[in-house]
Amino acid sequence: MRAVVVHPPAVGVELADVPLPTRSVGEIRVRVLECGVCGTDHDIVGGKYGRAPEGASYLILGHENLGVVLEGDPAVVGFSPGDLVVATVRRGCGRCRFCFANRSDFCESGGYTERGIVGAHGFMAEQYTDVPEYLVRVDPALRDVAVLLEPLSVVEKAIFQGQRVLNRKEPTPGHPPTGSPSALVAGTGAIGMLAAFVLRVRGYEVVAIDRHDDTTPAGRLLKRIGATHVNAAAGLAVLGEQGFDLVIEATGSVSLDFGLANVLGPNGVLVLTGIPDASVPPTTVAAGALWREVVLGNRAIVGSVNANRTYFESGLRDMTVFQEKWPGALAGVISLRRPLAEVADAVLEHVGGSIKTVLEVTPPRTSAPSAG
Ligand code: BGC
Repeated sequence: MRAVVVHPPAVGVELADVPLPTRSVGEIRVRVLECGVCGTDHDIVGGKYGRAPEGASYLILGHENLGVVLEGDPAVVGFSPGDLVVATVRRGCGRCRFCFANRSDFCESGGYTERGIVGAHGFMAEQYTDVPEYLVRVDPALRDVAVLLEPLSVVEKAIFQGQRVLNRKEPTPGHPPTGSPSALVAGTGAIGMLAAFVLRVRGYEVVAIDRHDDTTPAGRLLKRIGATHVNAAAGLAVLGEQGFDLVIEATGSVSLDFGLANVLGPNGVLVLTGIPDASVPPTTVAAGALWREVVLGNRAIVGSVNANRTYFESGLRDMTVFQEKWPGALAGVISLRRPLAEVADAVLEHVGGSIKTVLEVTPPRTSAPSAG
């Protein structure tokens, strides 16, 4: 079968012919329809991240996925050929308490693998196999947007974690009456945009920053969902004095992360989701002032990575809410679609203002699940 292959830590990506995966007892065989391309893929192709499976000379790339069940196991109930499915990414270490509880997103040993990222083949291939535990069935009504479920799951977890920390304040007394909570989203790639969608349906007033004017697809989409777009190319001072209750960071920029800690309001929470480059040179920060504000203002800085199955499930529920509230808007997060053959361009290109590129692994005309 055709697959997008990398050789971490070597730089580069290629389309290769690899053997079809063998289906073990209890597994389901899935034909891949689409795969999203994300910053993690850029890092793997750039030789900065990723690891091939034990004993393999290559890694099949791709973790944002949508597929259709080809063949199940008669002993496995709940999945039938033609069902749309999205696979989760992380596979547990098999030895820590969180992985035993199918919550490998909180793995304590670090011995997990991630499909398409570390130690396990991914989904930029014509087929894959997996056990039902890691497959989430998707309503055909979400066919056009379901490839966004994996990044949405990461956002669902990040916002849930942030909200949990905010909730430590417990119900507020109510005099003067409490207004809508405020959120800042830093970065308008797919993670930032999906965060804006989720925060809007959770009742937040949302400001989203990037380095572009309002004419980009992201700028237009933010307006559509009632969020405010701000071009912060000249720095965070453009945000004025407002302190935010919740800040969701989605850029991986180390210097920006420090700046964002300074735009938190009292009791505010900054959730970092972008994965910084560990090799960036040391930066100077006013650490005394920063920690002072954190302590004196009950502020919190939280890291959040990956997502377990529950966040894929809440993501599906939210997708339906987005579709009802802003028909067609979610599909706008996919700013570019490319055939599998153009993977090198899709993974390497950085189109300013674009949000998400999706690779069509199975050409669209054959990708619709059969009716009935
Ligand atoms: C993926 C996560 C993964 C993380 C770290 C992200 O791009 O969406 O599932 O845990 O990278 O490898």
